[in-house]
Amino acid sequence: MRVDVVTVFPESLDSLLSVGVIGQARADGRFELHTHDLRSFTDDPHRVVDDRAYGGGPGMVMMIEPLVRAIEAVRLPTGERRVVLLSPQGRTFRQEDAGQWATLDQLVLLCGRYQGVDERIVHFIDEEISIGDYVLAGGEAAAAVIVEATARMVPGVVGQYQSVAGDSFYERRALGAPQYTRPQSFRGHDVPDVLLSGDHERIERARERWAWEKTVRNRPDLLGLRVDPSRDDG
Ligand SMILES: C[S@@+](CC[C@H](N)C(=O)[O-])C[C@H]1O[C@@H](n2cnc3c(N)ncnc32)[C@H](O)[C@@H]1O
Repeated sequence: MRVDVVTVFPESLDSLLSVGVIGQARADGRFELHTHDLRSFTDDPHRVVDDRAYGGGPGMVMMIEPLVRAIEAVRLPTGERRVVLLSPQGRTFRQEDAGQWATLDQLVLLCGRYQGVDERIVHFIDEEISIGDYVLAGGEAAAAVIVEATARMVPGVVGQYQSVAGDSFYERRALGAPQYTRPQSFRGHDVPDVLLSGDHERIERARERWAWEKTVRNRPDLLGLRVDPSRDDG
């Protein structure tokens, strides 16, 4: 699988996505990441990719032509491909998307900046995707989130399949089980006894129960439960 990211800051993604399991997967060739400088898809001598908004208003808007040229240049001629614009106005990215996109031959991610992208881009992409209801300065951080979540779903990228299958949101709308490691006791807080029992069935049952309890406590919305309005998470 390969991901192509189109951005005005191609160097920004490299350090984060060169480490850990993703870095290893890239080195092994299980997963390819290609970054492209949007400015190389303009004929403008000053490599300008933004302009003022029609109708007025503050800030600059990214021009459509360099983006469409970039899509046409980087998209593979064949195969299962998806072209996605990162945008706070898009559908929210979920774990299911990571799983599905990991089976594609190519995912193309377009990063916006400034006030966003000329709306006519919608005719040249498959969809707009947001990573959450807040506004970032640019699409690069969102692209890094999507690349990391998607790449770890590519078979073989995460060594032990169980560590993916036990994750929060994996094939069910619930959190993963809490985990513990040494020391057995830390400042009066002990590891639950059952984890030291060696009884794998009991351990699995306990982990399942803790996962549901934590989901009810932290993310009742995932289970369709009402969120307590008096609870202050801020
Ligand atoms: C400052 S934002 C533009 C926000 C836009 N004016 C709006 O109100 O929707 C610039 C770029 O950052 C990226 N971006 C910002 N927030 C994002 C989010 N939550 N998810 C994905 N991309 C985001 C997009 O690529 C966007 O074009």
